[in-house]
Amino acid sequence: MGAKNSVLKLMAAALLAPGETVLGNLPAIFDVSIMRQLLERLGCEVVEATDGSTDRVHITVPEQPLSEAPYELVRKIRGSICVLGPLIGRTGRAKVALPGGDAIGSRPLDMHFAGLERMGVEIHVEHGYVVAEAKELRGAQIWLDFPSVGATENILTAAILAKGTTVIDNAAREPEIVDLCRMLASMGAQIDGIGTSTLEITGVEGLRPTVHDAVADRIVAGTWAMAAVATRGDVLVRGADAGHLEIALDKLVRAGADVDVRADGFRVSMAERPKSFDVVTLPYPGLATDLQPQAIALLSVAEGTAMITENLFEARFMFCDEIARMGADVRTDGHHAVVRGKERLSGAPVRATDIRAGIGLVIAGLVAEGVTEVAEVHHIDRGYVRIEEQLRALGAEVERVETE
Ligand code: UD1
Repeated sequence: MGAKNSVLKLMAAALLAPGETVLGNLPAIFDVSIMRQLLERLGCEVVEATDGSTDRVHITVPEQPLSEAPYELVRKIRGSICVLGPLIGRTGRAKVALPGGDAIGSRPLDMHFAGLERMGVEIHVEHGYVVAEAKELRGAQIWLDFPSVGATENILTAAILAKGTTVIDNAAREPEIVDLCRMLASMGAQIDGIGTSTLEITGVEGLRPTVHDAVADRIVAGTWAMAAVATRGDVLVRGADAGHLEIALDKLVRAGADVDVRADGFRVSMAERPKSFDVVTLPYPGLATDLQPQAIALLSVAEGTAMITENLFEARFMFCDEIARMGADVRTDGHHAVVRGKERLSGAPVRATDIRAGIGLVIAGLVAEGVTEVAEVHHIDRGYVRIEEQLRALGAEVERVETE
């Protein structure tokens, strides 16, 4: 399935060209439907075509899109802040609600703002909205303090129609950013350095609509890989790109797994109890923070002790308190956690606090004795399509139970 963290940005980038852009390989997840509503509020016509698990959307963008993204939609998915760059680029102004808090920690927007300001955008926060205006959007030299995914995307999309050249140094180079750059290039954007940490964008007069398929979701693929190892199972992940998961898969091989990279994806199988490995989350190509809870779930039943260093979102360790309820031996201190592997966890009622914590608890439930009840699974639905059906197809005993 297409990557959640790509499709939202691709949908927002459609705003850069009037006319009909078609995006394929979209996952049928909640975030896509919210982004659809957001684009409609901005004056676009959005038609979805579903074939079960993946969607296609036809986005028709008007000559003059509106420029206000309201709080009631933005607060539901933080990723919607990615409309900021395309709106400024296209209309010279944007009023986008501040997304607000998130259960994985504080997520400031200072780098987004600093970069846009260098391009001539005046930005202030007013009554909970980011209000941005540019009389003339011009290219600039921008150095990011940290390779932020969101800041890279907003600056990149604003730069496409700016006057002159923008250089983003220390840019994020996640596969989802490469995907966005490829889509923009197919619309007529001029971008050099795609996939590297220096992006050079030469502004063009206008873009044309395009047809583009989203890149495969490496986090979902990595989740299946971790789940296979934790449960000592055998899973073929079709459509996955192993090249986007090099470090994660290498860790699993060190844990004792067999990883077979094939033309149509990869297969992960595990015969014995996994051996512990250390984890350090870093921007791509480092190990993704979005795979950290799944790794902790696996390590909680591995042989030996593991040290986890979380360098992006410190509050992600809230997950550790939940998995500890299942008997996991996890201690945290600041942005480090130590996990001492146990033979088995013990099923318990737990609560998902975000997408990845939720799926981490599901993996823990698969290796726990007895029944685990994961509450607030709506978080999981934001990143995984009909997870219970997929797990059942692999032999797991999982049920979705409706509560009030
Ligand atoms: C995106 C992903 C998220 C993933 C994260 C890191 C989407 C919708 N979400 O989030 O799933 O976990 O990348 O790979 O694509 N920061 C600042 N100031 C800024 C911007 C960021 O200090 O202006 C900090 C953040 O607090 C964080 C780090 O930089 O510590 C990385 O954040 P960033 O890469 O921007 O993550 P997102 O784009 O929010």
